[in-house]
Amino acid sequence: MTANKVTVGLVYGGKSGEHEVSLQTGFAVMNAFDYEKYEIVPFYITLRGEWRMGSVLHRPMNSLDEMKLESASDGTAEAAGAMFASLSGRESGIDVMFPLLHGTFGEDGTVQGLFEMAGLPYVGAGVLSSAAGMDKDVMKKLFAAAGLEQGEYIAFNERDWQTNRHELLQEAENRLGYPCFVKPANLGSSVGISKAEDQEALIDAVELALRYDRKVLIETFIDGRELEVGVLGNDEPQASIPGEIVSSGDYYDYNAKYIDGKSEMMIPAPVDPDLADSLRELAVRAFRAVEGSGLCRADFFVRRSDNKILINEVNTMPGFTPFSMYPLLWRETGMSYQALLDRLIELALERHEARTNLQYGR
Ligand SMILES: Nc1ncnc2c1ncn2[C@@H]1O[C@H](COP(=O)(O)OP(=O)(O)O)[C@@H](O)[C@H]1O
Ligand SMILES: [Mg+2]
Repeated sequence: MTANKVTVGLVYGGKSGEHEVSLQTGFAVMNAFDYEKYEIVPFYITLRGEWRMGSVLHRPMNSLDEMKLESASDGTAEAAGAMFASLSGRESGIDVMFPLLHGTFGEDGTVQGLFEMAGLPYVGAGVLSSAAGMDKDVMKKLFAAAGLEQGEYIAFNERDWQTNRHELLQEAENRLGYPCFVKPANLGSSVGISKAEDQEALIDAVELALRYDRKVLIETFIDGRELEVGVLGNDEPQASIPGEIVSSGDYYDYNAKYIDGKSEMMIPAPVDPDLADSLRELAVRAFRAVEGSGLCRADFFVRRSDNKILINEVNTMPGFTPFSMYPLLWRETGMSYQALLDRLIELALERHEARTNLQYGR
C-alpha cells in the first residue's frame, strides 16, 4: 500500500486449541517488525472461526488488548471465502501473508490452500508439506522413504479398531511392547496422547485418541533425550544449533508444555560436537523429506541406551513467541527475532516468485 513498504497480512487466533498461544505470537511478531520496512494488516480469526480484518498498522501495538480491539472494532467479520475473493486481486495491496496459526486449520495445509487460491505469497510450508507434517502416519512414511531412522509403530483407523481390535492389540504387544505411546494421527500439543503400561490402559488410550481423530498411532516407547533443531530456508535449508527439552513430567505432555512452567529448554543442548552435527544434518534431511519450505522445527529422540538418533516429528509452524524454542535456537545461532522475520518474508516472496512463471496447463 505505502510505496516501498512490504505489506504483511498477519493471521492469528484461529479455531484450534492453540488460539491463545497464537494471539501472543501475533502480538510479539507485530511488535518485532521494523515499521520502516513493513506495514501490517491484522487478520484475527475468532475461536468460532470468523475472520476479522483490521486496518493497516503503521506502528506496533501497546498491548494484547489493544491488538484484539484493533482487529475487532473497525474490522469486518467476513466468511474467509468472501474475504479471500476480495484479496485475490492485485488491488488488495497485501504483499505476503504470514499465518501464525498452529494445529488444525492453521498448520495442516488448509489456510495455505486458501492463500494459494488467492494467489498470495505466504510464509512457511506449502499445502503438501503442511498436511504431511500434520499427519504423523504420513510423516513417518516420508521419513522412512528418506532413510531416517525412527521408532517402530503401527497406524490404523477407527474401522480397523472396531473390526480387528484383537489382532491390533496382539500386534502392538508383540512388536511394540509396553510401555507404548498412543496418539491421534493429526493433532499437536500432546493433546489426546497417552503412555500405556498395560493392555487395559492401551485400550483406554486408543479410545481416547479416537475421540480426536479417526486415525491412531501406537508407538514403541523410546527412552531418550529430546533434542530439537530449527531449519530455515527453501531450496538450501540451513539448520540451527540443537536445543534440548528437559520435561517437568514423565514425558512432554500438555501440562509440561504449557501449564506448569517447569519444563526447561537448554540452548545450546549439552551435546558433543559430533552429535550436534549429526542432528543438524538429519534436521535438514527431515525438512526435505516433507518437502518443507520457509521453516520447520525437527524434533528427535537420542536413545539413552546407545545414543542412536531417532526422528520424532517435524513441526511446520513451530511455537514462535520470542520465548519459544525455534526463535531462541536461531538467536543462539546468531540470528535475532527481527532478522528471522525478515528472512521468512524474503523466503516467502522468493518461493512465490519462483512459481509464478510455471505453466498450469498446456
Ligand atoms: N514413542 C515415544 N517414546 C517416548 N516418548 C514419547 C514418544 N512419543 C511421544 N513421546 C513424548 O510425548 C511428547 C509429545 O509427542 P509428539 O509426538 O511430539 O506429539 P505433539 O505433536 O503433540 O508434540 C513428546 O515430546 C515426548 O515427550
Ligand atoms: Mg512434539
